[in-house]
Amino acid sequence: MRIVVLVSGTGSNLQAVIDAVKAGELGVDIAAVGADREGTYGVERSAAAGIPTFVVDFKAYQDRADWNQALTEAVAAYQPDVVVSSGFMRIVSPGFIDAFGGRYLNTHPALLPAFPGAHGVRDAMAYGVKVTGCTVHWADAGVDTGPIIAQEAVAIEDSDTEETLHERIKVVERKLLVSTLAALAADPAYSAA
Ligand code: GRF
Repeated sequence: MRIVVLVSGTGSNLQAVIDAVKAGELGVDIAAVGADREGTYGVERSAAAGIPTFVVDFKAYQDRADWNQALTEAVAAYQPDVVVSSGFMRIVSPGFIDAFGGRYLNTHPALLPAFPGAHGVRDAMAYGVKVTGCTVHWADAGVDTGPIIAQEAVAIEDSDTEETLHERIKVVERKLLVSTLAALAADPAYSAA
């Protein structure tokens, strides 16, 4: 299974995928890593790992349609079976998702459909839920919507801040992303029981 991973930030989920591949625990080919802006640590660490990288800078395009087209072409050049949004903070067009047969995977730090959006951890805490978690799902053109593949719960402690909770979620999220990719490599129709 060939994957292209899209990042906007530090890419610690991506690093978990890179580490699992290098350790021989995950049989996928990371064809490339792309970002929506220059200077991300995610691209830097991929380049350091010898993975091809590209940037399609959102701010360099006059409108979203042009950026989507450029992103689609940049990703398509690597002919991925699955495109992974790993902390990629942009909504892509339906055309992008169609170009990859709907195989656009996203990770989110909350138990969807609860708390979608850029502040899933903060919003769960503000609501006062006792349990949150993370979700790996097939993304459609909405904000953190689309069929759920796998989820894991994480309890919220009284002493948590947004940062401590997000770090604990990310530990679980990294493992869930790696195990989900492994399951999809074995069975493209995989969905957790
Ligand atoms: C993850 O929790 C992801 O779900 C969210 O942002 C975080 C990205 O972390 N959208 P990283 O860039 O993989 O370290």
